[in-house]
Amino acid sequence: MNKDFTYYNPTRVHFGKKSLDRLAGELADYGTTVLLMYGKGSVKKLGLYDKVIEILAAAGKTVVELPGIKSNPTYDQLLEGCRLVRDNKVDLILAVGGGSVIDCAKGVSVSAYAEGDPWERYWVNFEKVNNPIVPVGAVLTMAGTASEMNGGSVITNEAKMIKGGRVFPSVVNPKFSILNPEYTFTVPKEQMVSGIFDTMSHLMEQYFSGTDDNTTDYLIEGIMDSLIHSSRIALGAPTDYEARSNIMWCATLGLNTITGLSKDQDWEIHMIEHQVGAYTDCPHGAGLAVVSVPYYRYICQYGLDKFVRFARKVWGVDTSKLDAHAAASAGIDKLAGFISELGLPTTLRELGATEEMLPLIANSTVLTGGYKKLTAEEVLTILKTAY
Ligand code: NZQ
Ligand code: ZN
Repeated sequence: MNKDFTYYNPTRVHFGKKSLDRLAGELADYGTTVLLMYGKGSVKKLGLYDKVIEILAAAGKTVVELPGIKSNPTYDQLLEGCRLVRDNKVDLILAVGGGSVIDCAKGVSVSAYAEGDPWERYWVNFEKVNNPIVPVGAVLTMAGTASEMNGGSVITNEAKMIKGGRVFPSVVNPKFSILNPEYTFTVPKEQMVSGIFDTMSHLMEQYFSGTDDNTTDYLIEGIMDSLIHSSRIALGAPTDYEARSNIMWCATLGLNTITGLSKDQDWEIHMIEHQVGAYTDCPHGAGLAVVSVPYYRYICQYGLDKFVRFARKVWGVDTSKLDAHAAASAGIDKLAGFISELGLPTTLRELGATEEMLPLIANSTVLTGGYKKLTAEEVLTILKTAY
């Protein structure tokens, strides 16, 4: 491990079938007014909304609600949350839902008392947060993003056609997160596989960088192994607790920063997907699936050894009789096969993109990269291949 790092993660995680029992104890640390944020209705169908309201009432909390947070949450929704926080002097934001609800809650948390335009300050200029933040707690209902244990907040500014991501310092992480794998049983299949691939992508974005012998890479390979194994079980048996609990914890570990330690990291696929999402509003993991195979085929020549290792260690390819290019390519073929197994889309067309959108997406994509930093023209080439 060659790069220095500091590791600190202040989120307290309660995991398992009885984890909601821990909510009352957590609430005791905060004042009386709670902003309850949730999505478009799944928490009510699940019966979770009623249980949370009951716990809040028993704790003597005054509840202000912000329902309807959409998948790929918008800046307008964030601003509405900020208004509710200020008007009601909210002491705690409780996010009940998937990554979108938790991301929006963290966005509200840092923005409610910001001077000036929070979007420009925090998502465009990446300014240091210098205003009070409102604590956030989470009850997670869908596995994928790891938003429950990180400082990330990805917000879509519809007026500007930008889906902007920011990883805030850990002071913005949820103070506590409640993870009951049983809540994920009702997630529709297309969202379940989107979440699974999101986790796979987080792991790959961190893995495909660096040439050092790094413990983090071994850790990532182990998590990928567990994720692939449990995903195959959950595809046939969505209510298999063991599989869903493994997927949920793999997702948290995938981006709670532990799998990025001492790594340069890539993240170009996420940057491309964010703009695909800004134009098509596709499920995040589905967008990642479409972009991943063309992207990795394009860049693998720049990080060949790692792609050979990926083929061998993650997919069990016998690389001993293959040259490096063929071995790397065999690993990417296996990844493509996994995407088909999950039933995820493989073309931008299926996500609702049009040919006219491709240059707009390419020109608004943030350019980063691990083994290779792309130009906007190269992003366009990848988008055309994915179309
Ligand atoms: O709105 P409701 O009715 O709740 O339905 C949701 C939504 O339609 C549904 N759902 C969630 N839990 C359910 C359920 N349906 C039935 N039963 C349940 N238990 O699933 C749909 C998707 O939910 P969403 O929260 O949008 O999904 P996800 O967790 O994948 O979050 C996606 C957002 O997170 C961002 C993405 O870009 C996207 O905006 N990301 C956040 C990251 C972070 N904070 O670190 C990193 C990621 O790379 C990602 O960018
Ligand atoms: Zn992601």
